[in-house]
Amino acid sequence: MPHDLTLISTIATSFALAFAFGYIANLFRLPPLVGYLVAGVLLGPFTPGFVADSGMAGQLAEIGVMLLMFGVGLHFSIADLMAVRRIAIPGAVAQILIATAMGMGMMMLWGWSLGAGLVLGLSLSVASTVVLLKALEERSAVATPNGRIAVGWLIVEDLAMVLALVLLPAFAEVLGGHVADEAHAASGNQSLLMVLGLTLVKVSAFVAISLILGPRVMPWILRQVARTGSRELFTLSVLAIAIGLAYGASKFFGVSFALGAFFAGMVLNESDLSHKAATNSLPLQDAFAVLFFVSVGMLFDPFIVMREPLMVAAVVLLVIVGKSLAAFGIVMVLGYPVSTALTVSAALAQVGEFSFILAGLGITHGLMTQEGMNLILAGALLSITLNPVVFSATDRVTKWIKAKPKLKESLEDARQAHFLRLQGELEAARVRAAEKAAAHKTFTPEELAERFPLFTGLNPEQREVLVLHFVLKTYQPGERIIREGDEADAVYFISEGEVEVSVRGRKISRLNAGDYFGEMALITGQPRSADVTALDYCKFATLSQRDFRRFLQRFPDIRKQMAQIATERGEMNRQLLEDEASDEVSAIPPQSS
Ligand code: CMP
Repeated sequence: MPHDLTLISTIATSFALAFAFGYIANLFRLPPLVGYLVAGVLLGPFTPGFVADSGMAGQLAEIGVMLLMFGVGLHFSIADLMAVRRIAIPGAVAQILIATAMGMGMMMLWGWSLGAGLVLGLSLSVASTVVLLKALEERSAVATPNGRIAVGWLIVEDLAMVLALVLLPAFAEVLGGHVADEAHAASGNQSLLMVLGLTLVKVSAFVAISLILGPRVMPWILRQVARTGSRELFTLSVLAIAIGLAYGASKFFGVSFALGAFFAGMVLNESDLSHKAATNSLPLQDAFAVLFFVSVGMLFDPFIVMREPLMVAAVVLLVIVGKSLAAFGIVMVLGYPVSTALTVSAALAQVGEFSFILAGLGITHGLMTQEGMNLILAGALLSITLNPVVFSATDRVTKWIKAKPKLKESLEDARQAHFLRLQGELEAARVRAAEKAAAHKTFTPEELAERFPLFTGLNPEQREVLVLHFVLKTYQPGERIIREGDEADAVYFISEGEVEVSVRGRKISRLNAGDYFGEMALITGQPRSADVTALDYCKFATLSQRDFRRFLQRFPDIRKQMAQIATERGEMNRQLLEDEASDEVSAIPPQSS
């Protein structure tokens, strides 16, 4: 072949097989992701036939993880994260400790080294983002309090893994491994405290920059792009923000792609365009998430199940039963209802991408063997496949408990206090966000055409772009909005309230919601022709001089209509003033000779 087609062949075969097996899985009433995993196993090096490039598939999968986490962030606000912190932080930390201890204990029983046990334990302690989100999405639970808790918990796990990834090389020698390369040798010479301190500083800097600077800059950029009216540019800006920030976050701050993308999304959650951004990135998100499952399947060596059946079973049990029980116990100890405990434990009863990264690092540092990696992969593949089963089992248990009045009373009803508080905080955050959005919102594109017949000729997209150019302004009764003779700066579309127009102190007319003013000076290039004063509390959608001129240039028909009304208004004023002048003249008493 004249040129390298690895990327194309990887994508083509992955999509084709994933589609075929996803469809078959669906026929058997299994979740499609099982089909994607099987497709991956078939494409992998451990089964005969075509072997796709697993490195390439892995990178494509990373993009899937980024887009998915970005999507979650778009629907997750900083306030949501704060609302779940009381359960997510202690929960995730305790679960990591317990799961790691279980992994270490199990490995020591098998005579593995302490380091191998630690790597395996840590790897098994963190759940896969993609799997969790797909599971929550399937049950429409992403936005429920339990869904929020599970996602928050996962974010804390991800943060903890950032630390683990940095600390592992530093601890490698102590744990019986070796220092991998020169770069790590340098960090090996630094004291552990230094490495830890530096990591904490980097992660904190990343979080601080994202939370302080991000909400100011990112929504603004998105808005500017949306105002161009180019859908293509908008989608591109969303992708650039999601993937670009994820990559930058990992390169400069050492955080994972997933975490970087999540923060990018969460920052954009503040923008009223976040829904549009989510819709635009959804198809790509879905496509790349499929590649994630295919790439997991590709790494899996199915024969390990025959070589080491007991070990595989133990790892799977640890992930599905051990971790679930730990999470269940923690949530119950923290005083939440049993339904929350069951949802969280089911959501986290699987392992995925982080586990492979950690195990890979373990191998590099001589702490983990390839067989250990295979075990982790087996644990991941089987726990991901079985996750839907775990969910339906917990559903059944919840139903069963709810059917028993006594159990329901003690495990569910009597444990509502913390849950209700958290639910209240999430609701308050939602209301605040809605209020904030309403405070800046002028009209929806549909309202625009309903209120102002002038705009009925615009198609929905053109209306949407116009609305994005509006700036909301409010005035109190009696306040002067426009002063006769001033320079023009904007045009005003009345959304609420009434204004009075007067020329040379003479009241000429009143304008209400649905009318507009301030166009004459902008069209003629003359100073303002009249005073305009608010009579009530008024709300206006205003367009700046520049935006208004551009708008008129684009829509000559609207320009014509507006120019005609401006002429009529000018004519009316002139007439009134002339009448007034002649009244004054006629009012002068004839001079007696
Ligand atoms: P402009 O001259 O930019 O600023 C004052 C505005 O008052 C003017 O644009 C019109 O929008 C509005 N205006 C002036 N005369 C009339 C009128 N006779 N009837 C309604 N509105 C008017």
